[in-house]
Amino acid sequence: MAGMSKWWPLAGLRLTTPRLELRVPSDDDLVDLADVAAAGVHDPQVQPFGFPWTDASPPDRARSTLFYHWAQRAAWQPANWSLNLVVVHEGAVVGTQGMSAADFAILREVGTGSWLGQAHQGRGIGTEMRAAVLHLAFAGLGALYATSSAFADNPASRRVSRKLGYIDDGIERQVRRGQAATLIRLRLDRETWQSTPAVPVEIYGLEPCLGMFGLGDDQDSVEPGRP
Ligand SMILES: CC(C)(COP(=O)(O)OP(=O)(O)OC[C@H]1O[C@@H](n2cnc3c(N)ncnc32)[C@H](O)[C@@H]1OP(=O)(O)O)[C@@H](O)C(=O)NCCC(=O)NCCS
Repeated sequence: MAGMSKWWPLAGLRLTTPRLELRVPSDDDLVDLADVAAAGVHDPQVQPFGFPWTDASPPDRARSTLFYHWAQRAAWQPANWSLNLVVVHEGAVVGTQGMSAADFAILREVGTGSWLGQAHQGRGIGTEMRAAVLHLAFAGLGALYATSSAFADNPASRRVSRKLGYIDDGIERQVRRGQAATLIRLRLDRETWQSTPAVPVEIYGLEPCLGMFGLGDDQDSVEPGRP
């Protein structure tokens, strides 16, 4: 996607952790991600997502993965963006890590969401990929807060948040498969992030993207990371 960076600098944004690369997906990456979605994201007995896109056949899950990523990419606005990265482990796409914000320049708050193919879960990848976008948010973009949410019966997602320093931030009640379900909101502030043991993360290609995140050239948008 080298040529594309000229008009769409996000194409050149990349994060690395000891085991992972997170990048803005090419269409070939999205096909790989769609394959992972078709192979299975969770036990069909449960539904971890607020929007139940996985309650569908494998081909429909694959297609909705493509449609979601294309739609989010086309809807990007500096005051309302959703960055959806693919997560690459040992050369293969294994899942996706998203980070979104509205009025980031004013609120300095991001929300995150993610999934991994079922075959790749439970090996610390979810923690490492969330840590990567938290580094982008706090060290790269100068965020003050990061939020997440997970249904009460999703211990893996809640545990990832806990390990990274989030605290409970209230609940929401949602209809899930026709029944009431409790969504637990989680929140991490900048000071806690700075004092929580970190996964080492490198950011590449951020500077040309700052305007797309709503951060003008005239502001001190890139702040120092941890002390
Ligand atoms: C949520 C998700 C991204 C986490 O990724 P992951 O790679 O599985 O997470 P990690 O291995 O980094 O960490 C999971 C933690 O939860 C713990 N955990 C997992 N299942 C658990 C259970 N049933 N009870 C208690 N703890 C559990 C693990 O032990 C681990 O904690 P530890 O490191 O202290 O041992 C991944 O599981 C996933 O994609 N799930 C399906 C989709 C989903 O739920 N997305 C999030 C919607 S909010």
